[in-house]
Amino acid sequence: MPLLGQMITLGIETSCDETAVALVEDGRVLSSEVSSSVHLHARYGGVVPEIASRFHVEYIYSVLEEALKDARRTIDDVDCVAVTRGPGLPGSLLTGMAFAKAISFAGKIPLVGVNHLHAHILSCFLDEGGRGAPGDMFPFIGMVVSGGHTSIYVCRGLNDLSVIGRTKDDAVGEAFDKVAKILDLGYPGGPVVEKRAARFTGAGGIRFPRALLKDEKDLDFSFSGIKTAVFYYWRDCARTEYEKDRICFSFQEAVIDVIDKKIARALRFTGARILAAGGGVINNEALRRRLASRCAEEGVELYLPRREYCADNAAMIAALGEGLFKMGEEADLFMNAMPGGF
Ligand code: KG4
Ligand code: ZN
Repeated sequence: MPLLGQMITLGIETSCDETAVALVEDGRVLSSEVSSSVHLHARYGGVVPEIASRFHVEYIYSVLEEALKDARRTIDDVDCVAVTRGPGLPGSLLTGMAFAKAISFAGKIPLVGVNHLHAHILSCFLDEGGRGAPGDMFPFIGMVVSGGHTSIYVCRGLNDLSVIGRTKDDAVGEAFDKVAKILDLGYPGGPVVEKRAARFTGAGGIRFPRALLKDEKDLDFSFSGIKTAVFYYWRDCARTEYEKDRICFSFQEAVIDVIDKKIARALRFTGARILAAGGGVINNEALRRRLASRCAEEGVELYLPRREYCADNAAMIAALGEGLFKMGEEADLFMNAMPGGF
């Protein structure tokens, strides 16, 4: 057992299509390896669970080897194993959980189960990207904007995060992916839609719907309507490259408007002075800028992850796992995966 405050945590993340392993030492990232199967899913326009699971099974050991090599450590240096327990795809989660349990059992190393969404929020404080550990920053408002989730949280501690708003249908990343599919722009949709949006410089965007804004108290989201609006607009318009850029710009603006307004509400309702937002969609520069100006206007401090920690990674799992372990959390080998979240 290491002295508390001096430990190395191995993080394992396999909830979706990224096989990731990282080593973190007292909140500092020693290595963070990610091997993605995204290229194998591209032709299907979305993640195929069976392909994702097979990829994890094939690559997890080599990703671990790389992470140890990068950190110049061996498995004997590891004091704690942190693994994503959920939410995620069942087969994918099981691969990482079985691997983590085997390492824990063989090396008699403590095991901790980590909530993937909480880790996305706390990725804001990782490494030099964050300005230190969350520590005494609690309570604050957290947000996850990813391919599978769009939720707002009140964060009172590492093990005390409650949802105060969530999407009723599609997640934001999913909406980006579907719009890209409608426009035949490939998968994943987020980066290409952002690039197309940036090409649209002229005035005269399309007014796509912004859902659930009427009730001032509503913190939930809905993005299925805008996806349908894009579908019909594209079906009926002159199908030019210019129109594609215009749609991407207008769609992105509408989505960012909604996120901005809901975040403003959450900050005002709770009186929080800090916002931490993570997840793959936080890669989006226009969204980062809008959150920055909103926080400046509200006098709120904004924390966003470094780009390498926006998408799925194991550094965020290791860092949160380490924090939870230091608070006394420990799982046993009977810990089950929680695909629906917990
Ligand atoms: O967090 P993440 O890697 O995986 C999940 O846990 O879901 O997020 C992936 C999602 C995809 O839907 C992808 O299209 C979106 O993040 N994304 C973006 C951008 N980069 C990735 N969405 C908007 N703009 C981007 N630049
Ligand atoms: Zn994720």
